[in-house]
Amino acid sequence: MGKEINIGLFGFGCVGKGLYDVLNNSKGISANIKKIAVKNRDKKRSLPSEYFTFNKYDLLDNPSINLIVELIDDAEEAYNIVTYALKNGKNVVTANKKLIAEHMEELVSLQNETGCSLLYEAAVCGSIPIIRTIEEYYVTELLYSVQGIFNGSSNYILSKTFAEGWPYDKALKEAQDLGFAETDPTLDVGGFDAKYKLVILTAHSFGLYVRPEDVFNYGIQNLNMCDIQYAKEKGYKIKLIPKVYRVGENEVTLYVMPQFVTNESNLYRVDNEYNGVTVEAAFSDKQFFRGKGAGGHPTGSAVLSDIAANSYNYKYEYHKNDINSGIEYTRNIELEIYFRYMNPEQFEKSKFISIKEKHESQDFNYVIGKVLLSDLMDDDYFSQEGSFVIQIGD
Ligand code: HSE
Repeated sequence: MGKEINIGLFGFGCVGKGLYDVLNNSKGISANIKKIAVKNRDKKRSLPSEYFTFNKYDLLDNPSINLIVELIDDAEEAYNIVTYALKNGKNVVTANKKLIAEHMEELVSLQNETGCSLLYEAAVCGSIPIIRTIEEYYVTELLYSVQGIFNGSSNYILSKTFAEGWPYDKALKEAQDLGFAETDPTLDVGGFDAKYKLVILTAHSFGLYVRPEDVFNYGIQNLNMCDIQYAKEKGYKIKLIPKVYRVGENEVTLYVMPQFVTNESNLYRVDNEYNGVTVEAAFSDKQFFRGKGAGGHPTGSAVLSDIAANSYNYKYEYHKNDINSGIEYTRNIELEIYFRYMNPEQFEKSKFISIKEKHESQDFNYVIGKVLLSDLMDDDYFSQEGSFVIQIGD
């Protein structure tokens, strides 16, 4: 049995309630929620009012609370809470991917300076224990790539529109009603949420801190029936894929974009709110992890796992920081893409390094060709109205 944990919980939304349920139905951990800090004074809540406070310092400065669990969706306020707690000697568990991705380097330094621990398994791929797996299992492995489906909401939308012919808006509404989506669903469908998770995994896998704003993310908002029809005819599914991979001994690249996936890929059968992660390494070769990536209980179970790990004084060691020091991020790589555009006058051959196939008809124009990742990111040409980009290949 580990030490007794007295939790100060921030937030009682979908994940906070999920954690409460999971904790109350779990054995083998001595943890209890002492107090919950919430923002909205008017909301009806399922627990007695004595549990709640509107003053964050009732938790942060409470000597009987020895673990802060931060589950709010405001990344800026989460930053204030988490840094205050660490600086004042309290360990923290959080599920906030934006907070971690945007302040990763600082938060790692803060853990080193204070000796406190910050755990965030629930921030990446919900119930899949991918951070701890990379930290512990792959500590000595030479990693080649980490990629997959990291956002449950966009995968839910892609699954429902693709397989069941649902309209996009209906699928998005359902993803929101089921508690999968962010408060601002642009973060999901625009590929930002997946990017934050990718940035976090990049640090753990390759010891490289990349700022989210330096990473290309292309979402699924502009997907239309022509793209779906094209994919179906070729036997593909369209998935939103974040990936980081080595392109040389000392270089990696990373980006998030829709991709055609064949039925030979493990990701082909990852549907709805499920996430999947494929890790490729020099000696263990390819391994695949699959599980629910969103929702109160799956995410709550990852939070509880961190709480249990905390009771045994577990901390991330960030091993790859030492092993891979000197590794750099490059956007100077060629990608093969499908580019759908609105009308033939819009087509500019010079935007492509090479072109393999081109189709123009009354209502559907596309080209398959190679482009530079840096051009995709920097050139507005690829985000013009009526266009859509999907990566070809694995
Ligand atoms: N909005 C996120 C998703 C929640 O849909 O995956 C889990 O991080």
